Amino acid sequence: MSEITTTRTEAKPKIYIARRIPEEGLTWLGDFESKMWQGDGPVPREVLMREAADCEGLLTMLTDRVDGALLDACPRLRVVSNFAVGYDNIDVAAATERGVLVGNTPGVLTETTADLAFALLLATARRLVEGVEFIQQGQWRTWGPLDLLGGEVHHATLGILGMGRIGREMAKRARGFDMQILYHNRRRDEAAEADLGVRYVEKAELLQQSDFVSVHVPLSAETRHYLKAEDFAHMKPTAILINTSRGPVVDQAALYEAVRSGQIGGAGLDVTDPEPMLVNDPLLSLPQVIIVPHVGSATRTTRGKMAEISARNLAAALKGEPMLSCVNPQAVK
Ligand code: GLV
Ligand code: GLV
Repeated sequence: MSEITTTRTEAKPKIYIARRIPEEGLTWLGDFESKMWQGDGPVPREVLMREAADCEGLLTMLTDRVDGALLDACPRLRVVSNFAVGYDNIDVAAATERGVLVGNTPGVLTETTADLAFALLLATARRLVEGVEFIQQGQWRTWGPLDLLGGEVHHATLGILGMGRIGREMAKRARGFDMQILYHNRRRDEAAEADLGVRYVEKAELLQQSDFVSVHVPLSAETRHYLKAEDFAHMKPTAILINTSRGPVVDQAALYEAVRSGQIGGAGLDVTDPEPMLVNDPLLSLPQVIIVPHVGSATRTTRGKMAEISARNLAAALKGEPMLSCVNPQAVK
């Protein structure tokens, strides 16, 4: 018996990149036949469905919904690599069922996001945006002992909801301002208590005692509207809420009502529900609320690292190598 061996060049696996990403990522993707969405905004769903249909790998943004319908439209798919640490845009259970690995980019954006959370804390407490507008509107006529008075940051009490990587970095920053730090988490974190001098309390107590409440939980079915009307009712009338996690973690209509009615003092938000937020959203009419457009990880360095990690996750999965960060390794036996 003779065996017939055919030599043919293996076709390169096809991948689709759902947005233009920094160069640091592209350099890892040379072994693949890749296409990249060139538009400024998210790739339209129907284009993604079509382009991904014969792909083995997808590099997605948090603005791309990856659900069972999309996965079913891509029978060859082996990996979805998300350009984000959060992956609430992906139905991970549906991916796992179909043997599709899901990657994310933890670690590299932790400190960058905590920097932004602390910037929002300072900016809301000290009314920076109102100050800028005050000048722009020609109201700065003299120095005034009663003008634009804010709240104290140093020695104030910060409550951290969610003591993960970003929560810990927030605590480190707060220590530099001599703040007292309370936290609430699903599990007590004795290591964080020892390292950072943070104190574990129940959620209601944290809300009652904190001058600033900063939320650092991932979005899931359990954390949707983790902060709602009854929670704002516990807070101090001067307290400020900071959210750099995901918009739906906060009941935004209830937040508006809490700030408008003076139940709480204000809010600094990097994330909204929906995103982008509507320009006529009532929250935008409240001077005590500062909102920026989901820029927590938006530094040149960090976005470069996110590009690299998401690209390396994709490449590793397609080569059958361990990914740098995989959220469902059980998807392949
Ligand atoms: C950004 O929000 C991320 O999850 O990386
Ligand atoms: C994200 O990196 C977190 O665990 O907070």
